[in-house]
Amino acid sequence: MTRAVVVYESMFGNSKAVAEAIAAGLGERFPVEVVGVDDARPSLTGDDVLLVIGGPTHAFSMSRATTRDSAVQQHGAPGPAGSGIRDVLESLPPAAGAPAAAFDTRVKKKFVPGSAASSAEKRLRKLGYRMVVPAESFWVADMSGPLLDGELDRARAWGAALGAAVLGSAATE
Ligand SMILES: Cc1cc2nc3c(=O)[nH]c(=O)nc-3n(C[C@H](O)[C@H](O)[C@H](O)COP(=O)(O)O)c2cc1C
Repeated sequence: MTRAVVVYESMFGNSKAVAEAIAAGLGERFPVEVVGVDDARPSLTGDDVLLVIGGPTHAFSMSRATTRDSAVQQHGAPGPAGSGIRDVLESLPPAAGAPAAAFDTRVKKKFVPGSAASSAEKRLRKLGYRMVVPAESFWVADMSGPLLDGELDRARAWGAALGAAVLGSAATE
């Protein structure tokens, strides 16, 4: 593994903060770039690239143009609504066993199903990615956040564990 890329989508900044914390954890092991979905993207593909991708859960799954518009129009997100991780995943070519992991942010409420990360994970698997660790959710208090106490520490630890796992699995291949 030579590098990691953390691609995030974020309407209110919570998933961005999680992405940066994950990158800080990953950065203990190898070079890592953090990129927003609408920024110029480095190459996300290749056997030597760990792809980490995440964003907010909208309507029980990954966002769509309509839900991002709603975040701006109805819930006061700064905008512009931009694109989402669903669009990034749709643009990726098949990956022959390249390593990946997915995360999301969502509201911690009992009996609210659905996670953008597990939807993203399904799509990554279909493309042929090898999921290094299971998809993970990080919790916000409400639509605009904030992240619950301790979530940034948990994100950093998740990034560090992901880095260790990808190096461990590469060593045994
Ligand atoms: C249109 C819309 C739909 C949402 N649907 C869900 C949902 O189904 N489940 C959930 O847990 N959170 C839902 N949320 C809350 C988001 O997950 C929350 O806004 C997000 O985690 C904040 O992250 P961000 O700052 O990176 O955008 C929704 C938010 C919006 C704006």
